[in-house]
This record gives sequence, structure tokens and C-alpha cells, in this order.
Amino acid sequence: MADDKNKTPDGDDRIGLERAAADAEHAAKMTGDIPPRRDAGAPEAPRHRRKGRHGVAVQAEVPSTGHEWDGITEYDNPMPRWWLWTFYATIIWAIGYVIAYPAIPLVNQATQGLLGTNTRQQVAAEIQRFDQANAAVQTRLASVELDQIPGDAELMNYATNAGGAVFRTWCAQCHGSGAGGARGYPNLLDNAWLWGGTLEDIHLTLQHGIRDPQDPDTRYSEMPAFGRDELLDGTQIDQVVDYVLSLSDLPHDQTAAAAGEVVFQDNCAACHMEDGTGDRTQGAPNLADAVWLYGSDPQTIRRMVQEGPYGVMPAWSSRLSEADIRAVAAYVHGLGGGE
Ligand code: HEC
Ligand code: HEC
Repeated sequence: MADDKNKTPDGDDRIGLERAAADAEHAAKMTGDIPPRRDAGAPEAPRHRRKGRHGVAVQAEVPSTGHEWDGITEYDNPMPRWWLWTFYATIIWAIGYVIAYPAIPLVNQATQGLLGTNTRQQVAAEIQRFDQANAAVQTRLASVELDQIPGDAELMNYATNAGGAVFRTWCAQCHGSGAGGARGYPNLLDNAWLWGGTLEDIHLTLQHGIRDPQDPDTRYSEMPAFGRDELLDGTQIDQVVDYVLSLSDLPHDQTAAAAGEVVFQDNCAACHMEDGTGDRTQGAPNLADAVWLYGSDPQTIRRMVQEGPYGVMPAWSSRLSEADIRAVAAYVHGLGGGE
């Protein structure tokens, strides 16, 4: 076997051949007979292919691509075989995948694939499975008396989870993800309620909304625009603003506030009550506490009296199921401010 090492599979003596080739090259150099440079850009076909020891083709002379930099020539070696086969395999895999799975988007939906696996259908099936599992508790939630819900552990457990999800989807953009509210959007965590904080009150607010023009049963009231509609003049407005500030002990002018009290009793007490503590049947906020919907600075209060605030909350009975409305009502009621 030792001999075979130096034999090409054709039986030639490899060492002898190489030596002869080197000698010829050397002789050529010596005589100045340098082989002509190949025409760049004309790739040369392999001159000499032979079978290697394991039957793999050995290219004895690799052609150049004709690119040369600083005397370094670029060989035109073929892509490695493992690389090519992997590449072909990915193409075959892709074809199989396109046939087996939903792939090519068409006008209405993508091609469905032979395996019939469709993640959309899976999601729909999952949702249906949950709906079925929850159907019983949902029906019960939608049909029991409202005041039964807080005492019922199963209903409350469902309502807190489902209601929390509804809240994050439909309410958080206005009331904040933690229900803490923002200017003009009431905080639902505290004990201050515009329209009432019992489960029934919250439920009614959710069903019909507040000043929602699309719901005939919506909660409605409208504070007049005292300045814009010239019901009060500038002095009277300044005075009543000072009186409102005095109700919650904010810095104010006492003389103006004393005059403002008269303006208040004549113009505001019908809704905000004589002591300024508000009226939930009209959604008129308590002006004597530290909680403000729009702000407690004199400019904001002045603007409220000038323009009249008009907060709108959409009605949900046309968008959410009764079970969802009750779930989110119970969720809000359970947040801490519920009465
Ligand atoms: C487009 C904004 C918006 C969305 C969405 C919204 N609300 Fe409101 N919500 C308001 C505004 C504004 C008010 C205050 C209306 C007013 O000034 O009387 C309000 C008032 C309320 C009140 C009455 C608070 C009180 O003090 O009486 C409750 C309860 C409430 N929202 C719950 C919800 C729930 C639950 C959702 C989700 C299903 C929701 N809101 C979605 C804007 C929104
Ligand atoms: C017809 C009933 C009504 C009358 C009269 C009325 N208000 Fe109001 N007021 C409301 C309602 C309702 C709101 C809440 C509106 C909203 O939520 O957008 C409100 C809101 C306010 C606010 C904002 C409170 C906050 O928390 O930011 C101020 C301040 C206020 N009123 C002051 C007055 C003053 C001063 C007068 C008398 C000059 C007056 N209101 C007369 C119904 C009334």
C-alpha cells in the first residue's frame, strides 16, 4: 500500500510527474521562455482532471477567474459541495413548505396548504374553546342581580380577570392603564365620583355613557358657558372663581370671594349645591374637595366658568356584551373607590 501513495489512480508515478513538471518550468525560466500570459477575462477550462483516491474529482489545475491583484490571482474554485447541497435542500424544503402550509397571499386569504394547519384557525378555535368554557359563568354574570356579584366568589374572580382585560383594551387609553385618570378623564380609583360609585351607578354609566350623542339614554347635563354666553360679566366671574377657590381653602382674595358667594348661590348652587359639594344626579363635581377633574388653578377654573366643561364618555352597550360590561363594572368597582 505504501507504494500507492505516490501513484495516481491512473498508475502514474506522481512524484516523477511533479518533478518533471518543475524541471520543465525551471528550464523554461532559465531560457527566458516564459509562457505567455493568458488573456484576462477568458477563463481557462480545467486542463487536467483526475479521480482522487476516494473517487472525488481532484482538479489538478484550477483555472483562474482572470482577476489579479499585485500578482495574486483569484482561482475559479467551484462552491464547496456541502454548501451547494445545503442550498438545494433549502429550495426543496421551501417548495414542500409552500405546498404543506398556508403561504401565498391571495385576494381574500392565503393558499391554505395541504396539512390544513392554519394558525388563524387555531387562534379562533382557542378563543371558541375559552368562550365555551366561560359560557356558563358569562351567562350567570349577565343574568344575576347586580348586587349579588360582589359576594359571589366565582363571579368576582371571573369579573376581575375578564374585566381587567376589557379595561386594558377599551378604557385604558382614556382613564390610564392603572385607572388613575388624567386631566378631563376621571380617576376611577378614588372615592370622588361624578355620577356615583355604586356598582349600579358604574354599570349605568358604562351602558349608556356620559353625554354620548348616539345614546338616547346617556347620562346628560350641561354646565352653561357663563362667560361666552354672557350670563355673567368678567367681574362676576373673577368673584365666583375666588369663591370656588375658597371652598377648598386654596389661596384666594377674601373680598372677591365674599361677593362671589352671592354669584355662586344664584348661578351655580342649582347643580353644585349650596355648599359646593356637587350633585351626582347631574354629574356636577364636588368643588369643595381636593379632587379636580380639570384642575384647581384659577386660570382653569376661570376657563370652566367661561366656556362650560363638556366631558364625553362613550356608551358601551353597543360595543360590549352585557357580561363584559358587568365584568368591567365589577372590576372598576373593586379598584378601591367602589361604594
Ligand atoms: C374616549 C375616552 C374614554 C373612554 C374610552 C372611556 N372613558 Fe370613561 N370617562 C371618560 C370621560 C371624559 C369621563 C368623564 C365624563 C364627565 O365629565 O362626566 C368618563 C367617566 C367614566 C366614569 C364615571 C366616573 C365618575 O366619577 O362617575 C366611569 C365609571 C368610567 N368612565 C369608566 C370607564 C370604563 C370602564 C371604560 C371602558 C369600558 C371607559 N370609561 C372608557 C372618557 C372615556
Ligand atoms: C347645569 C348645572 C351646572 C351649573 C349651573 C354649573 N355647573 Fe359647574 N359643572 C357642572 C357639571 C356637570 C360639571 C362637570 C362637567 C364635565 O364633567 O365635563 C361642572 C364642572 C365644573 C367645574 C370643574 C370642576 C373640576 O373638578 O375640574 C367647575 C370649576 C365648575 N363647574 C364651576 C361652576 C361654577 C363656578 C358655576 C356657577 C357660575 C357652575 N359651575 C355652574 C354643572 C353645572
